[in-house]
Amino acid sequence: MKVAVVGATGEVGRMFLRLFEEYNLINEIQELRLFASERSKGQKIKVGSKHYIVEKLEEEKMKEKYDYILFSAGGSVSEKFASIAEKAGNVVIDNSSFFRMKENIPLVVPEINGDILKGYKGIIANPNCSTIQMVLALNNIYRSLIIKEIVVSTYQAVSGAGNKGLMELINQQQGNTEIKHFPKMINNNVIPIIGDILESGFTKEEEKMIEETKKIFDDKKIKIYPTTVRVPVLYGHSESIFFRTEKDASVNELIELIEKTPNVKYSEEYISPIEVAGTDYTYVSRLRKPEEKTFLMWVIADNIRVGAATNAIRILLKHKELNSI
Ligand SMILES: NC(=O)c1ccc[n+]([C@@H]2O[C@H](COP(=O)([O-])OP(=O)(O)OC[C@H]3O[C@@H](n4cnc5c(N)ncnc54)[C@H](OP(=O)(O)O)[C@@H]3O)[C@@H](O)[C@H]2O)c1
Repeated sequence: MKVAVVGATGEVGRMFLRLFEEYNLINEIQELRLFASERSKGQKIKVGSKHYIVEKLEEEKMKEKYDYILFSAGGSVSEKFASIAEKAGNVVIDNSSFFRMKENIPLVVPEINGDILKGYKGIIANPNCSTIQMVLALNNIYRSLIIKEIVVSTYQAVSGAGNKGLMELINQQQGNTEIKHFPKMINNNVIPIIGDILESGFTKEEEKMIEETKKIFDDKKIKIYPTTVRVPVLYGHSESIFFRTEKDASVNELIELIEKTPNVKYSEEYISPIEVAGTDYTYVSRLRKPEEKTFLMWVIADNIRVGAATNAIRILLKHKELNSI
C-alpha cells in the first residue's frame, strides 16, 4: 500500500505512526509519506525499522495516487488539501471537524456504522473524541432500548487540544503562569468551556457532541445536553452520562448490552484516566439505575487513541477489508 500522513509531527499524527507498528500495518505499507508544515520540513521520524523524512505539505503532493491519506492537521488544512486529495481519487480519513457534518461524507465509528464504507471512495470523517467514546458505550443500549435523551458532562484531558495543550499544562505545573492556549489557568483548575460559545449558549465542542451523535445513530430526534469541561489531566477523557430509555432493562441486562460492542469493556471497579491512557478500549463503570428507564454511567477512553488515531486506523482496516485493498 501507499499511505500518507498529513500532520505527522502532531499528537494524533505520531500516534498513527505508532499504531502502524502496533497493528502490523507497517509491513503492508510499501511507501509511507509524512507531511507537516514548513516548520517540520526535514525532520526524521522512525517508524518500524526505517527513518522517514517529513515533507512540507504541498498541493502537487496531494494529487499523487495513494491507497490512504490520514489527515490530522486541523480544519483549514483539511478543507484545502483533503479536497485536492479526494479529487485525485484518493481515500482520505480526516480527523478534523471540517467535513463531519457534510451530508455526503460518512462519519464513522467502525464498530457502529463501518459497513457504510463498502464501495465508498473519497473523504471519510472521524468524529470528535468525546462523541466516539460516548456512542461506543451507548450503542447497543440505544439499539435495544431506544435512548430518548442524554445529559453528559465531560472531563477532557489537555492533550485533546494537541501539543500546545499538553505543553501549557506541563509548563504551568513547573511554575510558569503564562496562559497561551486555554482561556484560564488549567493547572489546579477546571474550565467549563471548550471551543467558542455559540448563540444557543452551548460551545462548539458541545454542538459537535449533539450533531455528530445524531448523525452516527441516524436519529434526528434524540435529545443530547452536553457540558464540556477541560481538566488538568494529560491523557484520557472521562464522561458522566445520564440517559433515559424508551424500554426498561435491569442493570445486568445493560451490562450485557455494553459488552456486546467490540472494544468496549464494563468494569465493576471504577476506572480513572491514568488506567486507560495507552489502551484501545472504552471503559464503562459506575453503572446505576435510580429509577425505571433511567441510568447513569462513567465512561473513559484514551482521547488520542480511541478518540482519534485508533478510530482512524480502525476505519482504514474496515475500509480495506470491505473493499479488498
Ligand atoms: N488531540 C486530540 O485528542 C484530537 C482528537 C480528535 C481530533 N483531533 C484533531 O486532529 C487534528 C490534529 O490534532 P493534534 O492534537 O494532533 O494537533 P497538534 O499536536 O497541534 O499537531 C498538528 C499537526 O498539524 C500540522 N500542521 C499544522 N499546520 C499545518 C499546515 N499549514 N500544513 C501542514 N501541516 C500543518 C503540524 O505540523 P508542524 O509540526 O509542522 O507544526 C502538526 O503535525 C486537529 O484537527 C484536531 O482537531 C485531535
